[in-house]
Amino acid sequence: MKSIARLMAASAIVSASGAMAADLEVTHWWTSGGEAAAVAEFAKAFDEKTDHNWVDGAIAGSGGTARPIIISRILGGDPMGATQLNHGRQAEELIEAGLLLDLTDVAEAEGWRDIIHPVSLLDSCTVDGRVYCAPVNIHSWQWIWLSHQAFADAGTDVPANWDEFVAAAPALEAAGKIPLAMGQQPWQSSGAFGVMTVAIAGLDAWSAVNIDKNADVAAGPEYAKVFEAAANARQLAANSNVQDWNQATNLVITGQAGAQIMGDWAQGEFQVAGQVAGEDYTCLPGLGVNEVISTGGDAFYFPVNGDADVTAAQKELASLLVSKEVQVAFNLKKGSLPIRGDVDLDAANDCMKKGLEILANGAILPDGNQTLSPDTSGQIEDLMVEFWNDPSYSAADAQAAYAKIISRAD
Ligand code: GAL
Repeated sequence: MKSIARLMAASAIVSASGAMAADLEVTHWWTSGGEAAAVAEFAKAFDEKTDHNWVDGAIAGSGGTARPIIISRILGGDPMGATQLNHGRQAEELIEAGLLLDLTDVAEAEGWRDIIHPVSLLDSCTVDGRVYCAPVNIHSWQWIWLSHQAFADAGTDVPANWDEFVAAAPALEAAGKIPLAMGQQPWQSSGAFGVMTVAIAGLDAWSAVNIDKNADVAAGPEYAKVFEAAANARQLAANSNVQDWNQATNLVITGQAGAQIMGDWAQGEFQVAGQVAGEDYTCLPGLGVNEVISTGGDAFYFPVNGDADVTAAQKELASLLVSKEVQVAFNLKKGSLPIRGDVDLDAANDCMKKGLEILANGAILPDGNQTLSPDTSGQIEDLMVEFWNDPSYSAADAQAAYAKIISRAD
């Protein structure tokens, strides 16, 4: 009963406006093969199920390039109709400045608080009780992707965890492989470091540093182990000179590299290449050490627009993105997990199934975008660029610099 009432209320919001067709420019940074296939599902649904038009505003070069462009367009009075961001703290200032559309009426009419799981995804869209974004996926960073071909060529078994991977690295090198593929953009080494902290320092130390901003733990023995592992990883990635994350994934797909530490979006690339989880590649959550996933993700924000037709189109898109059918179509292509538990994911591959199991067990963490300000994340990225590029930068010195960043984190 409740849900029928909600559906009727939701469609009333949409149709009561009597809106005219609008062209909605939608910006995002989903330009790899898997990402493009996934976002095409949004465009298709919007074009087919509404009277409006999706005008694709893909920005190449990853979130690090796209985010400042997106934010400066909104601040500078040249807003798009809708945009991807990682929800959490990236949009804080835009919301405070009143530049993003309040979607609370759509969220309430459709019962988002009851259907979105974990509800932290919606909390990350909510400021002072008002909802400003539509979450579209749970993306998790905590994965290492291993190439079966590379390990077969090296004459070793596919590792089951980080230590086994490190032990197999000399055999990979002897077979002419790059043990660890790593793209050169700052967010990639910083993200890989974050994955190592969860796996190697453990959850308590991770929470102390990332949630409580405890600089003593950041300077302590658990984190020393992480920095040593990162120094080791730096060595294993020394010959990986690609830029983009999907170029690094391609090294794994083609068996030129043993592994890559990367978020679940890598899965979309294996899929586009026709590879099968468990046969051609293996994915280990939490580096096979600590099976947890972070539950940040992507969300769409809608800059305030004086045109009522545009506002109506924006709300229709928000509603569609959260709908069951679109959630399934998008996430199956993206490799991420849906934001609602009431959808049929029978077609999920083995890696997605692992992610769903971990989610069901509740072994979840917030994402860095939810716990750290963009300023703190930027400082960590800068440190990681220096550390990964300079083999003489010692683990101990990097740890000391990191602890200092945490001591002043907001
Ligand atoms: C992240 C985004 C993911 C993924 C990745 C690589 O910021 O949330 O969805 O696509 O960038 O482009």
